[in-house]
Amino acid sequence: MIIEAKFDSPWDRQNSMKKKIAIIEKIHSDGLELLKKNQDYEYELITDVSEENLIKKLPEFDACTLRVSKLNENILKHCPKIKVISRHGVGYDNVDLNYIKKKDISLLITATANAVAVAEHVIYMMLSISKSINQYDNEVRSGNFKKNASKIETLELFNKEILILGFGRIGKSLIKRCLGFDMKVKIFDPFVSEDMIKKFGGSKVESLDDGLKSCDYLSLHVPLTEKTKNMIDYSKLKTMKNTAIIINTSRGGIINEADLDKAINEKIIFGAGLDVFEKEPVDKNNPLIKNNKVLLSPHSATFTNECKSRMSLETTKNIIDFFENKIDKSMIVKI
Ligand SMILES: NC(=O)c1ccc[n+]([C@@H]2O[C@H](COP(=O)([O-])OP(=O)(O)OC[C@H]3O[C@@H](n4cnc5c(N)ncnc54)[C@H](O)[C@@H]3O)[C@@H](O)[C@H]2O)c1
Repeated sequence: MIIEAKFDSPWDRQNSMKKKIAIIEKIHSDGLELLKKNQDYEYELITDVSEENLIKKLPEFDACTLRVSKLNENILKHCPKIKVISRHGVGYDNVDLNYIKKKDISLLITATANAVAVAEHVIYMMLSISKSINQYDNEVRSGNFKKNASKIETLELFNKEILILGFGRIGKSLIKRCLGFDMKVKIFDPFVSEDMIKKFGGSKVESLDDGLKSCDYLSLHVPLTEKTKNMIDYSKLKTMKNTAIIINTSRGGIINEADLDKAINEKIIFGAGLDVFEKEPVDKNNPLIKNNKVLLSPHSATFTNECKSRMSLETTKNIIDFFENKIDKSMIVKI
């Protein structure tokens, strides 16, 4: 669906100067090529994302792309020209929403680009943990081809129950893959109807506690907000099966990390796969990185070649579509 962008007066291509786009942090070249080919835009790559440098550089730009660095009020108040921020991704907890709402700055996301890559990452983590991939690999490399192999416990996804927490773009992409493994899929998302969940082949649980009690796998796909922060803490973990495996590719902080480490060490749950952390880059002293029941990746679920290209293209195309008043509604964050 196409909607009008928020402008006081429509952009007049004939009389306007080129729009200046700040590319905050490097993105795949495909998105930059799109801007290069379009004579109405020019861009500059900003790699120094310190607050000081952003305050110095950003005031001259009409729009910017944004990966993981923070755009807070202190930076944005120096940017009177900025009309739109185009996130390279779908989460936007790094942008000061109150401020951009006040200043009528639009926020765009790459709504269609990354769900598949994240869903595949969840499957990879579930399989890797269940099949003890790292341990087997290690055994072969250290010359123990058969010595311990039969003692290493492994599991199948077949017939297991997964609770998908949050049934948006990624949750919907994940369910198809889980059903391909003949898993039983339960969904907890109070904002999605039972009919919709049934249509996708899942069953809706009305309370998080009900879903947690019976699941073998829990995968998180909710945004980080005041409401979802620490949504999975020790009291929730204690209600889960002691064989349960948790995958978090959503945002650090939705699971309380200290509680997760404690629950794994106390064998309250079996283990976890984490792509995201409360503090990124992850702290060297974070106990989870020493916990061998935890599989880690560096917030890299979307780092497939295909996804990097799609996200970069969608990020810059969104800016062009915005200025040309043809932005798709699904790309705009309602604040
Ligand atoms: N690891 C990565 O690289 C990576 C990549 C993309 C997205 N993400 C994260 O994944 C999150 C989900 O992405 P998406 O594209 O599926 O988002 P989405 O907005 O399409 O879906 C989020 C879903 O969560 C539901 N929800 C919100 N609050 C809830 C609550 N309290 N309880 C249950 N459900 C709730 C919403 O109803 C919605 O259906 C993003 O917010 C982002 O933080 C991480």
